[in-house]
Amino acid sequence: MGVRRATVDDAAAIERIRVETWRATYRGLLPDGLIDQLQPNVERRRERLRMAGPSELVFVAQEGADVVGYAFAGPERARDPEYAGEVYAIYVLPAAQGKGHGRALIRECARALASRGLTSMLIWVLRENQIGRGFYERLGGTAVREKQLEEFPGAEEHVEVGYGWKDTRGLVA
Ligand SMILES: CC(C)(COP(=O)(O)OP(=O)(O)OC[C@H]1O[C@@H](n2cnc3c(N)ncnc32)[C@H](O)[C@@H]1OP(=O)(O)O)[C@@H](O)C(=O)NCCC(=O)NCCS
Repeated sequence: MGVRRATVDDAAAIERIRVETWRATYRGLLPDGLIDQLQPNVERRRERLRMAGPSELVFVAQEGADVVGYAFAGPERARDPEYAGEVYAIYVLPAAQGKGHGRALIRECARALASRGLTSMLIWVLRENQIGRGFYERLGGTAVREKQLEEFPGAEEHVEVGYGWKDTRGLVA
């Protein structure tokens, strides 16, 4: 078990985790059409990993040789006045949840952001996603922002909640 930086060769695992965990998490919360059309896109993921700039952080969590979770992080994307860093996404396969991978991934994100001078952090989560919200609250995050879900046509009535950490030192310790 452990967390490491991702390489392009993690693209297939990341895509499998993205699709499987998305389906398990959002079925019933987001429109079925959106869930059904979700497909792994390994080539696109490889390309994104290959092109990632120095400020884009991608970590994977492993159980033995298997990659079971991932997180993307970097600078906050919307010029938030208070939060400098952001975790863009974090997903752990359903069968591997509850074993500490999520905490380890968040910790590495917070550590890497802090080493770049980004010591505050924001994470957006669907308002109805009680698993995600419970997890962020357990890790000391506070619900500080709200916005409409933007990226998915047909799901604009959904709201995302932003969880903030004003100082990530407690998370990293
Ligand atoms: C949210 C998620 C990343 C958490 O990862 P995980 O590996 O299951 O979490 P961990 O095992 O590291 O849990 C860390 C701590 O949070 C607690 N926790 C986890 N989920 C919780 C919940 N829903 N409510 C309360 N506490 C929770 C754990 O008990 C643990 O506490 P402890 O260390 O004091 O025992 C994972 O469940 C997941 O991928 N869920 C589906 C996708 C998702 O919702 N992603 C986030 C939104 S973008």
